[in-house]
Amino acid sequence: MSQTEATMQKIVSLAKRRGFVFQSSEIYGGLRSAYDFGPMGAELKRNLMNEWWRAMVHSREDIVGLDASILMHPQVWKSSGHLSSFSDPLVDCLVCGERFRADKAPRVAEGSDAPITLADKGRAKAALEKLQEAHGVSLTRSGKTLAGAQASDRGYVCPNCGSPFLSDERQFNLMFRTFMGPVDPIGKVVDTVRAAVESGEDGKAIRARVEDALAESTVYMRPETAQAMFVQFPNVVQAMSPKIPFGIAQMGKSFRNEVTVEHFVFRSVEFEQMEMEYFVPPGEGPKWLDYWKDERMRWWQSVGLKAENLRFREHDDDELAHYSDGCFDVDYQFPWGWDELEGIASRTDYDLKAHAAGSGKKLDYFDPQATNPETGKPGWRFVPHVVEPAAGATRGALAILCDAYDEEPADADGKGARTVLRLHPRLAPVKAAVLPLVKKDGMPEAARAIVEQFLDAGINAKFDQQHAIGKRYARHDEIGTPFCLTVDGQTASDETVTIRYRDDRRQERIAASEAVTVVQEALRR
Ligand code: GAP
Repeated sequence: MSQTEATMQKIVSLAKRRGFVFQSSEIYGGLRSAYDFGPMGAELKRNLMNEWWRAMVHSREDIVGLDASILMHPQVWKSSGHLSSFSDPLVDCLVCGERFRADKAPRVAEGSDAPITLADKGRAKAALEKLQEAHGVSLTRSGKTLAGAQASDRGYVCPNCGSPFLSDERQFNLMFRTFMGPVDPIGKVVDTVRAAVESGEDGKAIRARVEDALAESTVYMRPETAQAMFVQFPNVVQAMSPKIPFGIAQMGKSFRNEVTVEHFVFRSVEFEQMEMEYFVPPGEGPKWLDYWKDERMRWWQSVGLKAENLRFREHDDDELAHYSDGCFDVDYQFPWGWDELEGIASRTDYDLKAHAAGSGKKLDYFDPQATNPETGKPGWRFVPHVVEPAAGATRGALAILCDAYDEEPADADGKGARTVLRLHPRLAPVKAAVLPLVKKDGMPEAARAIVEQFLDAGINAKFDQQHAIGKRYARHDEIGTPFCLTVDGQTASDETVTIRYRDDRRQERIAASEAVTVVQEALRR
């Protein structure tokens, strides 16, 4: 096992052991690429999303929030282009049957004729050996045929078995579709197919008929939160009269039928996004793209990610969507390497124009103070351009876990080894643990009284008297609790407690009445 895999395995194991992330429906064998955030993970993700909302909406005057439905009119996805082009190129391996994304498959050097080195994955190896025997195929990458298929020279091979014998690429739309209203989709399909077969139609025509029959009840689970902010643009402008530049922010669940299973919650079928559409006058996209790049990089650091683990990756021209005039990813250095945490794109006026064309409604903005550049007269009506910082909260929570994860070795006496999550106090699921040293002599009661003070101040503190004190410290280190307050024999006489700081394990005595203030100060930093 590589170092990377070992680190990831430890993080995944801690996430389960300590209640951060569980596999969805685990007792039934799980659901591929679906996860549940447990008691600690729910707090961590919520804290992260609250920080984003605070930074984007509550700390500024130019951005308002939105909380839109997940299901929207299907025309939204037609106008936005998601129906026609929100897809991944899928390929089947003709040797082992693996279905995979062409753009994520392992690359091979151009013109490579190196022998195929099959991973020793029994099923694939046995299948290829059988096919070899039957068809006399030699194990090289080019110019050979397998069961009638030409070894592909597309520059990639099957990620499971390394074979170059691949089906054609097919576009696979990532949107989940479902049906709304009192429809029986299966009944409709059966009736439509029966009628089409009776009239002698071919497969392609039958498919088109079925699509038509289902179209009126088909709705899609949103694959991004962004579109609602474009579609509600005129209502928000009418209701709030914002002065341009201004933004609409939204966070919530999005759904993508991801085929590739990748790195724990990094790529999941259901995930939370934190997106903001910033509307600016034409020509100002590049300026605001720079602004939002800086803001977002600063924010990720403010929630605790180390600067050295963050970088920008500018999209190459051939990677840019046709309507975008600039895009940068904020990449995080995950244990497996650099990967996308957030995309910050200048999207021109594409989205508003697309929805104006699709709906027949005006999606423009009138600025009475601006001068119309064409007439030179005061008052300018235009379609705003958009800069969009689009971050993942689920992916963000994983980055936060990876960044905070730390192991401290034992000292010379073989003692003191520990695993600790160095979470920013504002993200920590539990801000303070209050621990009676023993379960007698009034200590539990004194500890509960301190917990009450925290709860009255709106701070999530936990009473914890299970196991020896060392074990409790270890448990709270692993969930990232920044402060442990221990009530002991001295507390009754002088109303002090021991405060233990998670990061350096330093301990000191403070007045029990100061505890809330100490934690409040840490939360303000
Ligand atoms: N509106 C633009 C948009 O949705 P995106 O790059 O597809 O852009 C934005 O998604 C962010 O959402 C990504 O940077 C990532 O953090 C998160 N994200 C996208 N697909 C995801 C998935 N399958 N699982 C977890 N997070 C995902």
